[in-house]
Amino acid sequence: MDTYKIPVITIDGPSASGKGTVAQLVAKKLGFHYLDSGSLYRLVALKTMQTHTDIHNTEQLAEIARNLDVVFKNEDIYLDGSIVTDAIRAEQCGSLASQLAAHPQVREALTERQRAFCQPPGLVTDGRDMGSVIFPEAILKIFLTASAEVRAQRRYKQLIEKGIDANIADLLQDIQKRDERDSNRSIAPLRQDADAKLLDTTSLTISQAQDAVLSWYNEIHAINPRLNMK
Ligand code: CDP
Repeated sequence: MDTYKIPVITIDGPSASGKGTVAQLVAKKLGFHYLDSGSLYRLVALKTMQTHTDIHNTEQLAEIARNLDVVFKNEDIYLDGSIVTDAIRAEQCGSLASQLAAHPQVREALTERQRAFCQPPGLVTDGRDMGSVIFPEAILKIFLTASAEVRAQRRYKQLIEKGIDANIADLLQDIQKRDERDSNRSIAPLRQDADAKLLDTTSLTISQAQDAVLSWYNEIHAINPRLNMK
């Protein structure tokens, strides 16, 4: 398929920046598909825990990533036929995901699975390396961030709303640890690429962040009529 004509918007950024919420809203507004790439790393982490796999055995981790039996249906995620939508949101899963994500073999094993989400009429995706590695041809690349304190508060609210127990001080520490690990790894590190637009949402509402992305997209669309719009 001629994938280069399919518009892809990538929203990369640090943990708990709100990129997932913004990406989902933008996808809905444009009628585009949505890929939460972090959920794939979290699924690998969950399966690693379930199977008591040694987290240093990169071959076996890559095998898990390659063979993940996952289904995204409506708002739910199924792993081996069971709903794991909330289970993968636990901080333990996020933290292990970040450790596993540092292995090139795991990243490689998830690459094609992520690219398969690029389908008409378009895709909005969020993660760490969506614009730099997975969809380098994306028509709009955004680096969405916020201060670590604001991100800890957002993550706290998100977890409490899901009925998951949380503590702001622990969350802040976890976010800082994860930022450091994600930014300093040698493969696909978290950073703002030269061709990505910076969206600092520290003092923006979700709706303002969504509007900023949509207005960038509309600007690009106005000068590029080849884009496959709905
Ligand atoms: O929701 P949050 O931003 O905390 O994390 P996530 O997007 O669900 O991703 C969990 C972990 O997976 C991150 O800490 C990254 O280490 C890793 N990840 C990655 O390496 N590359 C991606 N494209 C997405 C996630």
